[in-house]
Amino acid sequence: MTLILWAVIGYLLGSVPFGIVITRVLGLGDLRQIGSGNIGATNVLRTGNKPAALATLLLDSGKGAIAVLLARALAGEDAALIAGAAAFLGHLYPVWLGFKGGKGVATFLGTLLALDWRLGLAACAIWLVTALVTRISSLSALVAAVLSPLVALWLDGPRMALVLAFMAVLIFIRHHANIARIKDGTEPKIGKKA
Ligand code: G3P
Repeated sequence: MTLILWAVIGYLLGSVPFGIVITRVLGLGDLRQIGSGNIGATNVLRTGNKPAALATLLLDSGKGAIAVLLARALAGEDAALIAGAAAFLGHLYPVWLGFKGGKGVATFLGTLLALDWRLGLAACAIWLVTALVTRISSLSALVAAVLSPLVALWLDGPRMALVLAFMAVLIFIRHHANIARIKDGTEPKIGKKA
C-alpha cells in the first residue's frame, strides 16, 4: 500500500511539465511548436533563452530527485526507488498533457543523483563528455542511458540495474525521431534550431 502511494506521489511530481510552464510564463511561445516540439531543456534552449533552459533542466531533474529523497526520508529505500521510477514515468506520460510528455533525460539524471550520487555523477559525466565531443544532446542522452545500467550493476547491484535498464529502453523509444536524425546526419547541435 505504501509503495503504491509513493508511486502515485512520484508520478504526480514527475508529471509537472516545467518546460511548458516556464516558456508559457515567460511568453516564449508554444514549446510544442518550437524545434523538436519536446518539452525538455534542450528544446527550451532553442527559444534562445538560456536561463529558461537552465531552470527547466534544474526543475525537471529536481522533481525526480525530490521524489526519491522524500520517499526515502519517509518510507525507506524501496519507496525511494519506486518514487524515482514513477517520477520518470510521470515526465514521459503526464496526465496533464494527454500522456504525451518529454524524453525523460533530466528527470532520469536527477533521479539517479538522488538514488546514488556516484551513479548520478557518472551518468552526468557520461552525458557531458559525449556532449562536449559531439555537441548533440540526444546522442549524449542515449549514451548515458546505455551505460548507466552497467554502472548501476557495478555500484548498486542487479535490482537498480534492472530499473535503469527499463528507463533506458523508454529513453530510446522516446528518442526514435532523434535516432533517425542522428543516422542521417540532420540532428541539430546543442543550442541550434532544429
Ligand atoms: O533531453 C532531450 C534530448 O535528449 C533531446 O531533445 O529537443 O533535441 O529532441 P530534443
